[in-house]
Amino acid sequence: MGETSFTPRVFSGIQPSGNLTLGNYLGAVKRFVEMQNSGIETIYCMVDLHAITVWQDPDTLRHNTRELAAAYIACGLDPKKSILFNQSQVPAHAELGWLFNCVARLGWMNRMTQFKDKAGKNAEKMSLGLYAYPSLMAADILIYHATHVPVGEDQKQHVELTRDIAAKFNHDFKTDFFPEPEPIIDGAATRVMSLRDGSKKMSKSDPSDMSRINMTDDADTIAKKIRKAKTDPEALPDNLDDLKDRPEARNLVNIRAALTGQTPEQVIAEVAGQQFGTFKPDLVEIAVSHLAPITDEMNRLMADVGEIDRVLGDGANRAAEIAEPILAKTYDIAGMIRSR
Ligand code: AMP
Ligand code: TRP
Repeated sequence: MGETSFTPRVFSGIQPSGNLTLGNYLGAVKRFVEMQNSGIETIYCMVDLHAITVWQDPDTLRHNTRELAAAYIACGLDPKKSILFNQSQVPAHAELGWLFNCVARLGWMNRMTQFKDKAGKNAEKMSLGLYAYPSLMAADILIYHATHVPVGEDQKQHVELTRDIAAKFNHDFKTDFFPEPEPIIDGAATRVMSLRDGSKKMSKSDPSDMSRINMTDDADTIAKKIRKAKTDPEALPDNLDDLKDRPEARNLVNIRAALTGQTPEQVIAEVAGQQFGTFKPDLVEIAVSHLAPITDEMNRLMADVGEIDRVLGDGANRAAEIAEPILAKTYDIAGMIRSR
């Protein structure tokens, strides 16, 4: 990790908008766990305020927030080692988000590809929150003076915008109060693709459930989805370059590598010459043996939502202890009177 004068601190978040996917697991949560276990201070959030930038049914949102907390814990995040909480329980995020709305420029927001992808031709009908989403994300990170942000490839632009917001704030107010955090994007699966279309990212919101593996899928469903995953009739080659124009095949190799902790090069050396009729059943076995214990643990944890809420409440208290002094100082720098 790069040098900064701020104490290293990791922050990341995932939207509790349902269907936590294998992409979220390999691109994000698995990395969150590695960072936690490396001993660095780690803070992980369920970003419910981000989720509501598109419509969320209230009961479903409540369920999904708890389910995401259960997934975090089942994947190996330990509430004693990491701070785990939901975003709306720490109001400092929304408050700093407003200040950053006044720092970020419209031109910067207009360049955000995720907004363009999500809004499509319907930009006029999207919520204002969806447009301002990246400045709230900057607040999530900077309210903790976080220095490192593990994310999948698709979030790189938002973390870069966070750096721009930090730099502009520091410049405008002649201070060096905010760090410029670094995105941490590595591993074999920074962009897991759809099982139906190798040019599209695996996504929670894809209308086809067959396009993704959900962390709640049982073994039979995982097996069916992998068996039916789009591939081609060719055998697997002995080097990755030959997968350049075979995105679906490349995706399955990456998934296998990320699950087993190998590099894609190591996987291709192992499977060279195989047909998918051999490769896929092996991948099913690998995926099920990794995911089944996680799904079982999620189900166990979800049987006691009171305990999950308690963990989130405790996490929120610890998060607020860090965030509140940083918010107070930010208000002070910006000239707000706070005494009463
Ligand atoms: P989201 O579901 O949009 O809240 O994403 C949460 C985290 O998972 C972010 O760090 C994303 O970059 C990551 N992520 C989401 N989808 C994928 C994917 N298909 N491949 C890799 N990482 C992903
Ligand atoms: N925008 C992220 C996503 O959709 C979620 C997110 C919100 C996040 N705030 C964050 C990620 C802060 C990292 C850090 O995936």
